[in-house]
Amino acid sequence: MLLTGSAGGVGRATRSVLEAAGWTVETFDLTDGQDLRDLEAVLAAMHGCQAVVHAGAIAHDSAGTPAEIMATNLLGTWHVLQAAEAHSLSRVVYFSSAQVFGFAEGEGTPAYLPVDDAHPVRAARPYGMSKRLAEEMCAAWTSRTGVPTTVLRPVMILDDSALLRVTQDKAELGAFVHVEDVAAAVLSAISTGPAGHVRLTLCGAGQFRTTAARQTLGWMPSRGWPSAAPARGEAAD
Ligand SMILES: NC(=O)c1ccc[n+]([C@@H]2O[C@H](COP(=O)([O-])OP(=O)(O)OC[C@H]3O[C@@H](n4cnc5c(N)ncnc54)[C@H](O)[C@@H]3O)[C@@H](O)[C@H]2O)c1
Repeated sequence: MLLTGSAGGVGRATRSVLEAAGWTVETFDLTDGQDLRDLEAVLAAMHGCQAVVHAGAIAHDSAGTPAEIMATNLLGTWHVLQAAEAHSLSRVVYFSSAQVFGFAEGEGTPAYLPVDDAHPVRAARPYGMSKRLAEEMCAAWTSRTGVPTTVLRPVMILDDSALLRVTQDKAELGAFVHVEDVAAAVLSAISTGPAGHVRLTLCGAGQFRTTAARQTLGWMPSRGWPSAAPARGEAAD
């Protein structure tokens, strides 16, 4: 399988989990000179793969200009889908974000709490909009090709070292998900994911409901905030 964004925080953790489960992981990252904006490069990298996990992106509004964000996150995703079709892949796992809902960093307010996957998507800043539009791209592509796209929508992803710095009161809606739980969701999606197009919020603790991920992937977060009650992934259930 191909993993884009393999040199990033999520990519590194995901690669370890997938390889431990027996997957052969081909990597793809700009830091290795492979560019999602280059269709030929994506096509070449996907040769011989059964599935793709597409995590490569400019992962925040502060990390690029609006034009760079759209080029990498939208055109890059289009290239991944084109290559997946050309190589007859059996599944695409796409990394979206809970920022699609449109209330990250003061952009707006939730329509209701806890937020679930039926919540309207309203993101209008470049990063959130790129993820929102790429979700639609995946849905349309699946409806035409029949190839499943499993869309993961993590809230803020933290690893153990970040958990030493970030506290619940600083987190949007008190929400985070541990990177190891995210990697576990990828493994589940790639191994036994559903048919069709689905969008699944991933949250370890906070005001997001992860019912869809539990029902679709059997996914439950294992990590909550340190010293808090164990994560249940079902805030306010
Ligand atoms: N970190 C979070 O809190 C969070 C939350 C929700 C969703 N996500 C999404 O999860 C995915 C992984 O995030 P991350 O935290 O590992 O981000 P990251 O920035 O650590 O990793 C992203 C990787 O993509 C690569 N990349 C960027 N532009 C590229 C291009 N043109 N061609 C090839 N590779 C390119 C980067 O080099 C980097 O290694 C992203 O799609 C991000 O939007 C992250």
